[in-house]
Amino acid sequence: MGLPNGGRMPLVGFGTWKLRHGQARAAVLAAFEVGYRHVDTATMYANEAEIGQAFADSGLDRSEVFVTTKIRPSDAGRVRDILRQSLQALGTDYLDLWLVHWPPPRRGDSRKLWNELLAVQAEQFVRDVGVSNYGLAEIDDLTRSSGHAPAVNQIDWGPTLYDEQVLAGHADRGIAVEAYSSLKNTNLDDPGLTKIAAAHGVTPAQVVLRWHLEHEVTVIPKSAHPGRIAKNFDLLGFALTPAEVASVDAMADR
Ligand SMILES: NC(=O)c1ccc[n+]([C@@H]2O[C@H](COP(=O)([O-])OP(=O)(O)OC[C@H]3O[C@@H](n4cnc5c(N)ncnc54)[C@H](OP(=O)(O)O)[C@@H]3O)[C@@H](O)[C@H]2O)c1
Repeated sequence: MGLPNGGRMPLVGFGTWKLRHGQARAAVLAAFEVGYRHVDTATMYANEAEIGQAFADSGLDRSEVFVTTKIRPSDAGRVRDILRQSLQALGTDYLDLWLVHWPPPRRGDSRKLWNELLAVQAEQFVRDVGVSNYGLAEIDDLTRSSGHAPAVNQIDWGPTLYDEQVLAGHADRGIAVEAYSSLKNTNLDDPGLTKIAAAHGVTPAQVVLRWHLEHEVTVIPKSAHPGRIAKNFDLLGFALTPAEVASVDAMADR
C-alpha cells in the first residue's frame, strides 16, 4: 500500500497488543522468521523495547521493516519527548507511521495534536502520520484545519463490521484503512467461513484475513503462537472468488 510520503505499508503486518514480558520479543522474532516485515505497536502497549530487541536480534536492516507506533492523546503537548522515547525503545531513528491512538475528546485538542505530529513529520523523524479510531467527520476536520489528511486510519474492522460506505469514504479521501481486532471480533466457527476455508484448504482465520486483502484493507493479526503467526501470514497462495467475498461481506447483516 503506497502512502503519501513515499512509504510502502505491507498489507499484512503483525499486531502486538497484550504481548509483554518476553512474549513480544519471541512473537515478533517468530513473525520476522516467517516473513512479516510490518509491526504494529503503541506507547500504550508498553512493549516497544521488546520489539526493538526482536528487531536487533533479527539482523534485519531497518529499511526492510515497516514500523508503526501510536501516541496517546493524553501525551499531547509533549510529542517530542514521547517520540524520542518510542524511537529509543524501538532502536530506530525514524518511524514509518505514527498514529494518534484515538481522538482527543475536544476538537481543538485533536487539531493541536495533529499539528504537533505534522511538525515532527516535517523534521523527518516520521515518514507518514495518521490516526486511529477516527470517524470520517473527525478526519475531515483535521484535513480542513491543517491542509493535511491522515495517511491511514486504523479502525476496528472485520466481517461483522463491514460497511461499503466506510471503505468508499476512506478511498475517496485517499486514506488507507488498516483493520484491527479482525480475528478477535469474528466467529471463526461461522459455517459460511468454515465452508470457504474447506474449499481452499485453509483456516477460517486465513479466510477472514484474505477477505480484508480483497478489499485492500491492511491487516495486523496478533498471535503469541508460532503456528498461528505463520498461518496468518500465509495469505497469497489462494484468493477468494467474488461470490465468496460477497458472502463474507454479508456477515455484517446476520
Ligand atoms: N488502534 C487501536 O485502538 C487498536 C485496538 C486493538 C488492536 N490494535 C492493534 O491491532 C492488532 C490486532 O488486534 P487484536 O490483537 O485486538 O486482535 P486480533 O489480532 O484480531 O486477534 C487476536 C486474538 O486472536 C487469536 N488468534 C490469532 N490468530 C488466530 C488464529 N489463526 N486462529 C484463532 N485465533 C487466533 C489470538 O490468540 P493467541 O495469541 O493465543 O494466538 C488473540 O487472542 C493488535 O495486536 C494491535 O497491534 C489496535
